[in-house]
Amino acid sequence: MVATAPGSASELRVSIVLPTYNERGNIEPLLEQLLALQQAFRLEILVVDDDSADGTAELVRRLAHDQPAIRLIRRVGRAGLASAIKEGLLDASGDLALVMDSDGQHEPSSVLRALQALLEGDQDLVIGSRFHPQAQIRGLSGRRETGSSWANASARFSLPRAYAGLTDPMSGFFALRLDAVLPLVRAVDVNGFKFLYELLAVSKGRLRATEIPLTFQPRSYGSSKLDLAIFWDFLISILHSLCLRLLPRRAISFALVGASGVVVQLLVTQLLLGLSGRPLAGNEELALVGALAAASSNYLINNALTFRFARLRGLALLQGLLKFLMVSCLPLAANVGVAQVLVRFSHADSLSAQLAGILVVFVWNYAASSRFVWNTP
Ligand code: GDD
Ligand code: MN
Repeated sequence: MVATAPGSASELRVSIVLPTYNERGNIEPLLEQLLALQQAFRLEILVVDDDSADGTAELVRRLAHDQPAIRLIRRVGRAGLASAIKEGLLDASGDLALVMDSDGQHEPSSVLRALQALLEGDQDLVIGSRFHPQAQIRGLSGRRETGSSWANASARFSLPRAYAGLTDPMSGFFALRLDAVLPLVRAVDVNGFKFLYELLAVSKGRLRATEIPLTFQPRSYGSSKLDLAIFWDFLISILHSLCLRLLPRRAISFALVGASGVVVQLLVTQLLLGLSGRPLAGNEELALVGALAAASSNYLINNALTFRFARLRGLALLQGLLKFLMVSCLPLAANVGVAQVLVRFSHADSLSAQLAGILVVFVWNYAASSRFVWNTP
């Protein structure tokens, strides 16, 4: 693939980080093509595998026996794509590093172009963009393509101004100068799927970044690991940036779920009132059913999204529901109490009193259910 070394580049150390999760069918041809880069650089390839069930790690381990350039980092307890990339970069010993998908969607021939762009330009970061005017997308469904452009637009909106011109701040393909980027890598929040987005956000515009066009191929084997939960994480990342990264991500997620609960409560109560043909006054038990429905739906969604790393299943799921209901019972009284106290003693108007009540409930519910329902600090 690489014919000659560009100039004096052969002394340069390059680390390629390949995150893998069930990529047994794809990793070998990719490694073969990447190893050809040894003609141009002092190469190191770090495969960061999250305990794939399909034998990816065993295969890479075997390939590493004959190829000292290949290193396997194996992690138990899947921690996600962004976290794998962070770990690979922290372990990289090169001058330059390059991160790419290992499913064949990023073509290896772009690697040399990205490294050259990094060496020639005065840049810290070169991003392979699927949405560059000269890029070709062959591997995204129409729906996913629309989704990605929408996501890119919101990502750009929430990133530092310096990156407003980027077309693909969520790409999984990028090259960087390790000395410039390593200090920031430490600070990257790995709860998201999108390492690059987080890196750009924490850099506050200090990294000089540019893009090259990418050809995005269909996946060779297997299927994408992107799911609803990852989409949710992305939404939280955007809100997290918009809140100037001051609030914890989990609290933002918890608040969004809480807002969905308000809708559930109103709908269920209305529905019950409609069905029974009775007015709300004198039929408070219907409102109570609405509140219980909302709390249960909040619990299930938080279990699937906000606290999915500590997800409860089976009997524990039921026990968790009871605990959650108990936790959210308490502030019902407090909510009314705080509002009353404020109205009485500080002459606050009823709207701000209610908002203060909601804030107290939120903080209590979040803190108490993190601790008692999902056992997290
Ligand atoms: N170690 C590890 N752990 N690797 C993972 C994990 C994980 O939990 N999840 C996914 N990967 C690896 C996959 O094996 C693959 O090499 C790469 O990360 C990308 O995963 P895909 O599941 O193929 O992602 P995609 O093709 O749907 O998403 C693409 O577009 C995103 C932006 O929309 C990728 O290019 C992403 O990198 C990109 O952010
Ligand atoms: Mn992919």
